[in-house]
Amino acid sequence: MATLAQPSLAFTHLPHPSPVPVDVRKAALADPGFGKLFTDHMVSIDWTEGEGWHSAAVGPLQAIPLHPAAAVLHYAQEIFEGLKAYRLEDGSMALFRPEANAARFNESAKRLAMPELPEDIFVQACRELVAVDKDWFPAVDGGSIYLRPFMIATEPFLGVRPAKQYKFMVIASPAGNYFKSGAPAVSLWVSQYTRAAPGGTGAAKCGGNYAASLVPTAEAFARGHDQVLFLDAAEHKWVEELGGMNLYFVFDDGTMVTPPLLGTILPGITRDSLMALARDEGLTVKEERYSIDQWRADAASGRLVEVFACGTAAVVTPVGRVTDPVDGEFVIGSGGPGQLTGKLKDRLVSIQRGQAPDPHGWVMRLG
Ligand code: PLP
Ligand code: COI
Repeated sequence: MATLAQPSLAFTHLPHPSPVPVDVRKAALADPGFGKLFTDHMVSIDWTEGEGWHSAAVGPLQAIPLHPAAAVLHYAQEIFEGLKAYRLEDGSMALFRPEANAARFNESAKRLAMPELPEDIFVQACRELVAVDKDWFPAVDGGSIYLRPFMIATEPFLGVRPAKQYKFMVIASPAGNYFKSGAPAVSLWVSQYTRAAPGGTGAAKCGGNYAASLVPTAEAFARGHDQVLFLDAAEHKWVEELGGMNLYFVFDDGTMVTPPLLGTILPGITRDSLMALARDEGLTVKEERYSIDQWRADAASGRLVEVFACGTAAVVTPVGRVTDPVDGEFVIGSGGPGQLTGKLKDRLVSIQRGQAPDPHGWVMRLG
């Protein structure tokens, strides 16, 4: 569905009549965890065929009325994004590369036969929400407000075709660390299930991909692992990504490898940012296929020195060990965090938080 060229929307503002009391909010923000706490407001914008995007509003966070026949409930016509707002050293606020999320959102929209949202409206929606809920930044180390823009098909219709009505929304969730274990490095479970096949929706950020990852994720958790690792669908051999993160491999000659974007993995914005930062450091970064057997062999020989996962929620997280249901466990390096992983994480986080120069122009300061 094509983008409707339309001017920026005017947002109506409806402040929450009874926001969370200050003491309750402050207590909750002392230990936000990930994804369990929500701010007082939300953004919503409607789309209908003919009218395009309209009725943009920032209002109280509340349940939304949805017809039981709404297409999203039946055929999973849904896409989402994830990005963080940060409080900077000087007290101001910023978003990290929101245009990249807006662009990826539209790639997902195209794949799910949904209307594209002009990028400036996507960014404006995020800005409006952070502005109204700016008191929700957690004071904890590494804290941020995680923004979750998403779009659902709202048309009540049971025929199988793209819907003619949609709702775009943004909700906000104060966030601390994604992994509650607090372990220095995470442990992965190699799934026998497939996340995405060539020609499928693997490169889109659609809820259906995550629904399909839940059984393998539950399996990983039940066996005591932190994340599920998916291999390719055709040969069950090539490393793709984790349930919610991309992967990087670091070798003893300083080169880094990450699986290529062939349509089956999510083109992560953190992946892209780290690639640029690593190249800035003079490192060689290759996007090439890497097999699980090679991984095991390279970990054993010591050629592979570090592996890390990366994503908005997880930031940069070292991978310590991998368990394959057939061949058993192997450990990477010392099984703990590696030096380059730590350095790249610091580089990224210090740019995101305004503590270091921003040579790529990634930080969008808010007001
Ligand atoms: N891969 C998957 C499946 C994800 O859900 C995410 C998280 O958004 C990522 C990778 C990392 O993407 P990004 O760095 O844009 O957050
Ligand atoms: C993110 O990092 O933004 C994600 O979407 C990962 C997960 C929470 C789904």
